[in-house]
Amino acid sequence: MKVIAIINQKGGVAKTTTAQALAAGLTRKGLRVLSIDLDGQGNLTLLSGHDKATISAGTSDILKGKATTLDQLTISTPQGDLIPADAELAAMERELANQPAAERTKKWIAANGGSYDYILLDTPPALGILAINALMAADYVIIPTQADIFSLQGIGQLYQTIATVKQNGNPSLQIMGILATRYNGRTNLTKKITATMEDTAAQIGTRVFNTKIRECTAIKEAQTFGRNIFEYAPKSNGAIDYEQFTDEFMKDVR
Ligand SMILES: Nc1ncnc2c1ncn2[C@@H]1O[C@H](COP(=O)(O)OP(=O)(O)OP(=O)(O)O)[C@@H](O)[C@H]1O
Ligand SMILES: [Mg+2]
Repeated sequence: MKVIAIINQKGGVAKTTTAQALAAGLTRKGLRVLSIDLDGQGNLTLLSGHDKATISAGTSDILKGKATTLDQLTISTPQGDLIPADAELAAMERELANQPAAERTKKWIAANGGSYDYILLDTPPALGILAINALMAADYVIIPTQADIFSLQGIGQLYQTIATVKQNGNPSLQIMGILATRYNGRTNLTKKITATMEDTAAQIGTRVFNTKIRECTAIKEAQTFGRNIFEYAPKSNGAIDYEQFTDEFMKDVR
């Protein structure tokens, strides 16, 4: 079992989109996947057709350190099992800020996650206690990033946070790579920013994944219709790119 945190404190860089598509890609290969929605916005949960407002048992139970079983928390989806964001999750960032809660997700996974091949953690656009929970629990980090300078700007700070987590309880945490999302490789601007992205990756001891996720309208449509990209538009660029990314991920994880 491997735990993957999908993280970038910059908002709207396709963390949730990547979490869902990777879960779908791995599930299609017959692997057992659990996704945990660690974002109070509940976007990953919404993509599976569930509204956090109506969910009483979910990720907040893990963060409170409650003794809960898989069966009590998981929802079955076409892209594997999901522990949804629930009505109380949004308040957790504030409630747990001064509590020794950094390792609760890690402990819960150690006790309950053994039957999965991969556990994917979707995180909020902030480096608070929820993101720290993800980093403490993870074996690997994937950093989705758009090809613009603002998205790259925060990666240094993210790297500092990762370094701190490595020193304080999770020494084997590895940055698997930076994933370029909403990519339009034809423009000169993108070429320039891709070079900058590669420099940034080198500075933090990682690489940019070979696979780039192209800008793709079908991804937005699929989300609107509550389907994953492979179900909704299997021949779209989005499906092709996330399939290729799933393969690249599986090669790297070994
Ligand atoms: N390859 C793509 N092509 C077109 N639109 C995309 C693509 N990937 C993501 N999007 C869109 O970009 C927006 C942001 O994506 P997403 O919600 O996955 O980002 P996020 O990093 O999880 O955001 P947040 O920080 O708020 O959690 C969404 O509207 C999504 O539909
Ligand atoms: Mg998100």
